[in-house]
Amino acid sequence: MKTLLTAVKPTGELHLGNYAGAIRPALEALGAPGVRGVVFVADAHALNSVSDPARLVRHGVEVATGYLACGLDSERALFFRQSDVPEIFELAAILACVCPKGLVNRGHAYKAAVGANQAAGRDPDAGINMGLFGYPILMAADILCFDADVVPIGADQRQHVEIARVLARRLNQTYGEGTAVIPDLQVQAESAEVPGTDDRKMSKSRGNHIPLAASREELRARIFSFVTDGRRPGEPADPEAVPLFALAKALGTADEARAVAAALREGAGYAAVKEQVFESVDRAVSPIRRRYAELRDAPDVIDQALAAGAERARDLASGVLARIKKAVGLS
Ligand code: ADP
Ligand code: TRP
Repeated sequence: MKTLLTAVKPTGELHLGNYAGAIRPALEALGAPGVRGVVFVADAHALNSVSDPARLVRHGVEVATGYLACGLDSERALFFRQSDVPEIFELAAILACVCPKGLVNRGHAYKAAVGANQAAGRDPDAGINMGLFGYPILMAADILCFDADVVPIGADQRQHVEIARVLARRLNQTYGEGTAVIPDLQVQAESAEVPGTDDRKMSKSRGNHIPLAASREELRARIFSFVTDGRRPGEPADPEAVPLFALAKALGTADEARAVAAALREGAGYAAVKEQVFESVDRAVSPIRRRYAELRDAPDVIDQALAAGAERARDLASGVLARIKKAVGLS
């Protein structure tokens, strides 16, 4: 059995980029035989940026609903809320003591925040909390607490899993082989990046996103708001240069994407191409939208799944934590 671990942090509503770049590939990997899934709502990871408790809870429910709507089998995988498993936080405190500070200084998110402060002439650490700085340590704790063998991730998370690998190796070097399991990364290709309506990477923080649970009408309106160039109908276009094509490739079937490419090469007008992309994306997400709506009306189902999952997750995590605590000399 291989343990495959994945999570999404509840900082906003789930969008098509999260689905195609993180949720769908992880759920596909989970479906393989011989895989034990560990899937969670990384609510403590959102705490460094979400200070409104009601929002944190709401986004947590949205992520849990999203996973189930996308087809996660919560009987088969361990499915839970991170904050229901305190063992993770205990392990994070241990990992902080084996983690060189310099490693975290190089963290992408931290460096970007410092860079933005410097560019604005502010103190380099202005507005940066220790949760943001120590994010990679908490994420390493998530991964090592379940003896994860494989972590499927988008390219943006590569550095985090690499830090988890460094910390696992350090535990083994200092306290003996077998103290921690060294996780493997399974990185999605860069080409899996889904563009938003403005052709930059789709992101809830840019407001260019399409919600995963968008209604058919909202989906159509968002797809019709995608940027296009000034090409006139009749002029052929290179599909690779058209953001709508990237969306069709990420969400539609291979045949549907080929049809969009052919239409663009033949010079179809953008209105027709948008209609075509809309229908293909709608076919992909309409079963998810339907299940999402059903689950939204049955919050007890989600609560029960998460509560049962937390109990099973703690069983596993407490065994791993006990092993690591013993190795390092804690009681
Ligand atoms: P956002 O940028 O909207 O804040 P997150 O950073 O919370 O999204 O993304 C969670 C995961 O979803 C990321 O680790 C990444 O793997 C995936 N993801 C997010 N946006 C995209 C995108 N536009 N294309 C592909 N994958 C994405
Ligand atoms: N940091 C991840 C993100 O922003 C979410 C996450 C938290 C995660 N813990 C994890 C992903 C453990 C994989 C494994 O998308």
